[in-house]
Amino acid sequence: MNNESALLAGGMTMLALATSALVVIPYLQLKDIKPTEGIKPYTAAQLRGREVYIANGCIYCHSQQPRDSGFAPDSKRGWGRVSVAGDYYYDNPHLLGTMRTGPDLMNIGVRQPSADWHLGHLYQPRAYVSGSIMPSYPYLFDVKDAAEPGDKPVTLPPGYAPPNKVVVARAEALDLVAYLQSLNRTGAVLPAPDGNTSAKPDK
Ligand code: HEC
Repeated sequence: MNNESALLAGGMTMLALATSALVVIPYLQLKDIKPTEGIKPYTAAQLRGREVYIANGCIYCHSQQPRDSGFAPDSKRGWGRVSVAGDYYYDNPHLLGTMRTGPDLMNIGVRQPSADWHLGHLYQPRAYVSGSIMPSYPYLFDVKDAAEPGDKPVTLPPGYAPPNKVVVARAEALDLVAYLQSLNRTGAVLPAPDGNTSAKPDK
């Protein structure tokens, strides 16, 4: 065998190994995954809200992956059980995130179900959490002299609304809140047949 064919054979072997490790094996592991109990496909409004979440970079500060107690005390923080593959069944692309400048949002719909709170918090996080470093998103809202029919006025804590004006949620804010409210992966998870601990509820 001359040098060129050895090089070619070596290259093809490496390519085959990489393809099986990165494509074939993950596919075989995940192809039979079913949605976790209680998880429904997103509605049209929730999907639009998901786009707003992506466009505004929420993922740069918020993860969606409660971890095992061996890695982080997420269940003590009230972020929910350890996530499993079926929790992401309808997520494309998934929004796992890696940064946790803010809390994990995988179960924010359960922890904070109030649309009024979410709208007010997006308009001005510091109205609810003093010293919060989350950015405010004023461009998701309109400031008007008076609410018009069909408007969703935002109820803010005293002193945070512009004087003599009404803050009204734009469609993007309402969609984003619909998405946040849908985040609920608290459905029961059966232990995987191979005894994979990540599928067991966290202690
Ligand atoms: C620069 C980092 C940063 C970005 C970007 C960011 N957040 Fe936050 N977020 C935080 C921090 C810090 C907190 C905790 C303090 C607070 O509640 O304001 C938080 C809290 C929250 C909470 C309340 C969580 C709880 O457990 O009470 C929600 C909901 C939330 N963020 C949603 C969003 C959404 C939606 C976006 C995108 C539009 C976003 N955040 C963008 C940092 C960020």
